[in-house]
Amino acid sequence: MKIYLTLIFLIANFSLFAQTENKLIIHLDEGSVKINKHIYGHFSEHLGRCIYGGIWVGKDSDIPNVDGYRKDVLEALKAISIPNLRWPGGCFADEYHWMDGIGNYENRPKMVNTHWGGVTEDNSFGTHEFLNYCKLVGTEPYICGNVGSGTIEEMADWVEYINFDGESPMSNLRKENGEENAWNVQYWGVGNENWGCGGNMSPEYYADLYKRYATYCRNYGENKLFKIAGGANTADYNWTEVLMKKIPLQLMDGISLHYYTVTKTWADKGSATDFNEVDYITTLRKAGFMDELIRKHATIMDKYDPNKKVALVVDEWGTWHNVEPGTNPGFLYQQNSLRDAFVAGITLNIFNNHAERVKIANLAQTVNVLQALVLTNEESLILTPTYHVFNMYKVHQNSTLLPHYLKSEKYELNEEKIDAISVSCSKSDDGTVNISLVNAHPGKTIQLLTQLEGENIPSKVSAQILTANSIQSYNTFENPEEVAVKSFKDFELKKGKLEINLPAKSVVVLQISSQ
Ligand code: AHR
Repeated sequence: MKIYLTLIFLIANFSLFAQTENKLIIHLDEGSVKINKHIYGHFSEHLGRCIYGGIWVGKDSDIPNVDGYRKDVLEALKAISIPNLRWPGGCFADEYHWMDGIGNYENRPKMVNTHWGGVTEDNSFGTHEFLNYCKLVGTEPYICGNVGSGTIEEMADWVEYINFDGESPMSNLRKENGEENAWNVQYWGVGNENWGCGGNMSPEYYADLYKRYATYCRNYGENKLFKIAGGANTADYNWTEVLMKKIPLQLMDGISLHYYTVTKTWADKGSATDFNEVDYITTLRKAGFMDELIRKHATIMDKYDPNKKVALVVDEWGTWHNVEPGTNPGFLYQQNSLRDAFVAGITLNIFNNHAERVKIANLAQTVNVLQALVLTNEESLILTPTYHVFNMYKVHQNSTLLPHYLKSEKYELNEEKIDAISVSCSKSDDGTVNISLVNAHPGKTIQLLTQLEGENIPSKVSAQILTANSIQSYNTFENPEEVAVKSFKDFELKKGKLEINLPAKSVVVLQISSQ
């Protein structure tokens, strides 16, 4: 009788689960791929107020600083454990000559930053300033070399200057400039967007050039370089095909991909804050296109590299809106709303779910530029909704990706249709299960039935939520907490079944542990 009743109970429960519109099954014991922490990387270019005013204010500034670095920005970046920081560009990298940025400030030559507003770059922030900043932040540097207008010798010398500890012309120069020990920088990009601002090259020409540059970027001591080829723009699959075919695998550790979420057109991208619901769903649908891009580029890579030795490095991604009214169009300063937070949440879920191939990614950009983590105004700073997503999602860094099955209802408007829910799941080394969810539906709480499958189901849940009054909500210097993280309690876990009431327009991260 008892067995019979249990059976009826199980069948009833199973069919309830099967009929449910929104359900998630997570296999707790089946993970095999680590989510590389470098997926949570950032990008700081000599562009607008990212470096100057954002990261670096100089030692004599009235703005509180540590050796010239803004203190508030430094603290904000440390708090979210950023794993790597890409520098000096972007397009700027292919016109940057690193020797202009070393030695006494007074003697450093000036240049015109032709890409970004035609402003004069005084080179006061150079190699030493960047690498010392990375040490302070506790992040790994990712340097992009100049292929577009530089020489092979110039890049090889830069690697020697930074990484060689013995007696050599470049290491002696570094020591003369005050740095005794090599920095041992591992991550090196060989040019940037060489199909465009980095030289307008064909993939065949770039692949040949890459081989020459990569050959002369040497490993020094124990430090093995991780060399990243300048990869495709969005859906230019031919670029990936040619590079994978022509460049021997032992010469390349990564190949990059750049994709920006632009709501309307490149000529009029749309406002960061003044948008309607159609713009909103379009933005999120376009952010979701990252999944298709990764799948298609990865399929090409699999053909030449079935063992997945070469990483797909999405070293520029994020929203690109119109600049804020009244600001320099060349400075790419934009606000950041709850919508941007969802782009971040959805994209990071996609990266996690492709952790087998995507090993590094960099949001564009860290401070005051594009989808920034923080915005500054003179001595004030605000954290953007995107910052909060990175803070909530940091639990995934170096965790094991957990396979899952998701059934999500659709969120539809006019011609647009997307999954209302986006998810990724991981297990930390201490056994904690991390689930990051986005409910993109602007008006509907979604009940998500989650089944945890495994030997030992942990039972203690804690959770955080990011939401706000509207999808257009954003933080201002006057009201910096309009979009903020709060604790979340609307869930119930019983015998491996986790019922979550996901509020409309929210990002939720749950952590389930044994104690
Ligand atoms: O992130 C801004 C610019 O976008 C970068 O400099 C360039 O690589 C891309 O086109």
